[in-house]
Amino acid sequence: MLIDSHAHLDNEKFDPDRDRLIKSLKQSGIELIINPGDDLASSIRAVSLSEEYDNVFAAVGIHPHSAKEMDDSTIDILKSFTNRKKVVAIGEIGLDYHYDNSPRDIQKEKFKEQLDLAKEVDLPVIIHSRDATQDTLEILKEAQNDKLEGVLHCYSGSVEMAMKYIDMGFYISLAGPVTFKNARIPKEVAKAVPMDKLLIETDSPYLTPEPHRGKRNEPVFVRYVAGIIAELRGITFEELATKTAENIKRLFRIE
Ligand code: NI
Repeated sequence: MLIDSHAHLDNEKFDPDRDRLIKSLKQSGIELIINPGDDLASSIRAVSLSEEYDNVFAAVGIHPHSAKEMDDSTIDILKSFTNRKKVVAIGEIGLDYHYDNSPRDIQKEKFKEQLDLAKEVDLPVIIHSRDATQDTLEILKEAQNDKLEGVLHCYSGSVEMAMKYIDMGFYISLAGPVTFKNARIPKEVAKAVPMDKLLIETDSPYLTPEPHRGKRNEPVFVRYVAGIIAELRGITFEELATKTAENIKRLFRIE
């Protein structure tokens, strides 16, 4: 059984068939999924899904794209959800200098506030970082204490940077891009990350892996991410599935 550590099943792209899809996951070899929030509304939808379905866990957080929409009450509202049993992380949070949908100073400020929240409520973080490696690393270094744990989701950086995050206690999660033919760096990362620090995900409905590029992404496609990483590392699919599932349950403290 595989775990998809990052799938936005609350996204409207799943409106037509969400219930059927979630109920069929087990049959398709997917034990559970983690649904992160990207704004307040989607965080609330993620919590609802986690309470409706055994195999869905939630994270609550504001994506850097929506950082500018946060006001004085947002952190308190996020915090109010963190005592729910199936809310397992704060995320996704971070920095996105590729799209710059929110001004960078606001992205940084809101990223820090949400890292503080994670430490306060003792939950791991799910981090989105795009074209913002240096600032992400600096902010995490500053925030790091013995308690702060988390994952760099859909990691797209270098092996060298991955090792810096790992040294700070973070996990690295790979998604669909590792299956792309020309994805030289993600393939290097897939081989280099220590086995006990590696997570897998789909980031559904985005970033559909080969051979389904162009279609809507779904949690079952995490098998293609797992397949290519197992091949690259020279281990069996089963071993990769078992180890990544263990890592995901350890990080998100799922029994
Ligand atoms: Ni995401």
